[in-house]
Amino acid sequence: MAPEGSNTTAITLRKPHRDDGLQLHQLVAACPPLDPNSIYCNLLQCSHFADTGVAAEMNGDLVGFISGYIPPQQPHTLFIWQVAVHRRGRGQGLAKRMLKAIVARKHCAGVTHLETTITRDNDASWALFRSFAADMGAELSYAEHFEKNAHFGGQHDSEYLLRIGPFTRPAAASGP
Ligand SMILES: CC(C)(COP(=O)(O)OP(=O)(O)OC[C@H]1O[C@@H](n2cnc3c(N)ncnc32)[C@H](O)[C@@H]1OP(=O)(O)O)[C@@H](O)C(=O)NCCC(=O)NCCS
Repeated sequence: MAPEGSNTTAITLRKPHRDDGLQLHQLVAACPPLDPNSIYCNLLQCSHFADTGVAAEMNGDLVGFISGYIPPQQPHTLFIWQVAVHRRGRGQGLAKRMLKAIVARKHCAGVTHLETTITRDNDASWALFRSFAADMGAELSYAEHFEKNAHFGGQHDSEYLLRIGPFTRPAAASGP
């Protein structure tokens, strides 16, 4: 696994910091169908949740970002909130590389499972997480979680909760 800070495709991975918040907001806006959050929310993702997020830079521009956190009630689960890769960075394994970089962090030493939610029609996202599960040699299960009418008032398609694991972090796991 390429460690964070390495530069395999001229794209460098690093922990986010609060100065990334505004660029993250712009990146998410450029990556439909992601739901935009407030800039304030993005600032918190980049600061309070920096240990479970990753920023991908190319020539000083933010071309990729994953936001995530470890739910307080599930200390062994990494929940992935959003994955965004700018069109310029797609199709070269960047999203999967970013997922693996977070899992490899010391902060995720106790993590055995990954969860996320996906709408049924997001083929790229399903392919990403299926590919990640296969690489980790882990099982993947899913079930409807937030329902279109009951939870979104009909304004958003149902979100399916994917659960991947258990998996073992790489022996050479590294990272800040
Ligand atoms: C989904 C997204 C993050 C993928 O980024 P990416 O860096 O191009 O993905 P990767 O190159 O790491 O691809 C990972 C796997 O998914 C597959 N994949 C990626 N995009 C795909 C697509 N549009 N259709 C089908 N499969 C796709 C790849 O072939 C790869 O599979 P493999 O490892 O078996 O070869 C990017 O397309 C994006 O930002 N989309 C808009 C926002 C979004 O939907 N985010 C996900 C919801 S949280």
